[in-house]
Order: sequence, then structure tokens, then C-alpha cells
Amino acid sequence: MNLSVVALDERIDRRGFACGEEALDRYFRECVSQDMARRIASCFVALREAAVAGFYTLSSAGVLATELPEAITRRLPRYPTLPAIRIGRLAVDTKFQGQGLGGILLADAMRRVLRAEVAGFTLIVDSKNERAAAFYEHHGFLRLGRPGTLFMPLASAAKALASLPEFP
Ligand SMILES: CC(C)(COP(=O)(O)OP(=O)(O)OC[C@H]1O[C@@H](n2cnc3c(N)ncnc32)[C@H](O)[C@@H]1OP(=O)(O)O)[C@@H](O)C(=O)NCCC(=O)NCCS
Repeated sequence: MNLSVVALDERIDRRGFACGEEALDRYFRECVSQDMARRIASCFVALREAAVAGFYTLSSAGVLATELPEAITRRLPRYPTLPAIRIGRLAVDTKFQGQGLGGILLADAMRRVLRAEVAGFTLIVDSKNERAAAFYEHHGFLRLGRPGTLFMPLASAAKALASLPEFP
């Protein structure tokens, strides 16, 4: 697939994007640039030719240590909150679903976060429904002690990426 994943900017046309979830479409078409301007989220898009095939957002976040499994916190400093990065929204246009793009976007998010100079212990995602949660579990995310939220420690993400070919 001829594809590039880049930071969203105003030259990219968002109007035709449709993933099948109206709230996500509306957010991407109407709200995401305002969130970027206010430093609430950054947004990255997968472009196929000039068309947006998918997007995701990243924001800094925190998780309560008590929400993580004891097997993980046992090896961490006793801070009440641990640094995290939230994948706030992630979606693939219906024309491109089922072709591996969701997985490519997740891998791209992991690479960007691992390259960042600010540390984060784990990725977290708030899944909108059980189908979305199943997608993240399929990719190795684990349930957090908070309904609808899943996490993947960045050390695990780095191991998962090591077995994938470099993209894009
Ligand atoms: C969920 C979504 C992002 C998946 O993207 P996609 O490009 O269609 O998924 P992919 O083709 O990358 O699927 C990758 C793998 O995940 C699996 N998968 C996809 N959706 C899944 C689901 N709901 N449950 C379990 N596994 C799933 C696929 O079988 C595939 O497995 P494989 O790599 O072993 O072959 C996309 O369908 C979408 O945008 N849906 C609407 C918006 C949404 O619900 N977003 C969720 C985040 S809030």
C-alpha cells in the first residue's frame, strides 16, 4: 500500500473522511485542528495519495498506580500516578478498513512515542465500545482497572515493534 503517515496540517483535506462512527468523523472533520491549536492533542494521518485513509491523536496523560496490575507496579517507584500517553482517537476510513491500516497506525503511534524525548511509562486508550476494545486487545493491549480503558507499557511496545518491519 502506497502510504505515508504525517502530522496533520491545514493543507490536508479532512472533509471526506468517514469511518462509520459519526462522533469520530465529526471530531476529525470539525474539532481536531482546534485541539491541536490548544495543545490538547496532536494528530497524525495516514495518507493514500492525497486522501486521508486513517488518523490517530496523542496526548499526555497519567494512570493511577492502583489501576495497574501489581505484577507491573512492583517493579516501579512508589508514585501515586505514572506518566502515560493517551491514544485519544484512532480510526480508519471505511474504504480502507480490513487492510491492516489500524495496526499500521498503532505501530506508528508506538514508534513516535518511543522516539519522544519526554518519558512515558505506558500507552493508554479509551475504547468507545467492545469492538474497539477487542481491536486493541488483538494488538496486545491489556485491560486497565477502569472500564473501557486499555494499556500497553512502552517497554512491551518496543518489543512488539522489534518484530515488525520498519514503516513507513
Ligand atoms: C477499529 C479500526 C480502527 C480497525 O482498523 P482496520 O484497519 O480495519 O483494522 P486492521 O485491518 O488493521 O486489523 C488489524 C488486525 O486487527 C484485527 N481486528 C480488527 N478489528 C478487530 C476487532 N474489532 N476485534 C478483534 N480484532 C480486530 C484484524 O483481524 C487484523 O488481524 P491480523 O493483523 O491478525 O490480520 C477500524 O475498523 C475503525 O476505524 N473503526 C471505526 C472507528 C473505531 O471504532 N475506532 C476504534 C478506536 S476508538
